[in-house]
Amino acid sequence: MVKESGSAIASPNIAFIKYWGNKNSELRLPSNGSLSMTLNGLETRTTVYLDPGLSSDSLIINGETAGPLPLQRVSGFLDILRQHFNQKDCAAIESNNNFPPGTGIASSASAFAALAAAYTRAIGEFPDNRELSILSRFGSGSASRSIHSGFVEWYAGEKSSESYAEQIAPPSHWNLVDLIIITGYAHKKVGSFAGHALADTSPLQHARVQNCRSRLDSCRTAILNRDFELLAEIAELDSNLMHAVMLTSSPPLIYWEPATILLMKSIRTWREEGLPVFYTIDAGPNVHCFTTEQEHESVLRKIKSLPSVQDVLISRPGEGIRYPD
Ligand code: PMV
Repeated sequence: MVKESGSAIASPNIAFIKYWGNKNSELRLPSNGSLSMTLNGLETRTTVYLDPGLSSDSLIINGETAGPLPLQRVSGFLDILRQHFNQKDCAAIESNNNFPPGTGIASSASAFAALAAAYTRAIGEFPDNRELSILSRFGSGSASRSIHSGFVEWYAGEKSSESYAEQIAPPSHWNLVDLIIITGYAHKKVGSFAGHALADTSPLQHARVQNCRSRLDSCRTAILNRDFELLAEIAELDSNLMHAVMLTSSPPLIYWEPATILLMKSIRTWREEGLPVFYTIDAGPNVHCFTTEQEHESVLRKIKSLPSVQDVLISRPGEGIRYPD
């Protein structure tokens, strides 16, 4: 018999300054701070049912029983929450995404943010958003950012209590539009969880991390001043730096497909021609193309005229963690 339940909704986020690699993988302290925008219109809804009669955790994602690997990862995360809140009961979890999995949209960010929040509700705890951000981080680093609305910075920190995310500007601060270009739905072979462990095998990772503080400063300034040109330069540089590390890891991680490179080149050309556009790419082949509210329809037309574009999702700055009841 179910004892208690709790539900929460979270949205994914896209980083302008990327998290790649950990300085402490057990505590999930990232090698560098990062900065992101939470995405509206995309969401994960999760309900946690607690039952003293259960002998193990269970996980249903989009109506289907999850395989052993996702269940193992979620159970490991629940163990951390159980230990933190001094709880014992196993959990039955039901989670639904309104966006396709394996698209390079960071479903792990919304998944673990929603799970941490739903679990705390189920046990009758009400941690503040800083504590939720710290707890979500143990599931997926980028989940620490999805707790907050709008534009969000995650401080790397030197210990667990210092490694949390905070809002730097609300969604209404800047009406940027993210055109999320889907070039393929195939599941990636190496996910970010395994990818972080390879970051330090690249001779470029040290330089990327060393230089990150100044990129974070420029990116924060660009957002606070709504300086599109500066954000465009810094976000593309940061994305290219992360992919340079991926490409030079051992073994190398090549997430780009020919369509990805065509989009990168086209977007840069459109910017040279005067359109406000820039790209950023996560651990997958799909491209986030940022533009302004005024220009997004003409940019969308240009994108759709290119080959290999399967779909385009339109997103804007969105809300952080929320509760349906
Ligand atoms: O939170 P993770 O472990 O899924 O890592 C996220 C990694 C990137 O999406 C590539 C970059 C980022 O900062 O979101």
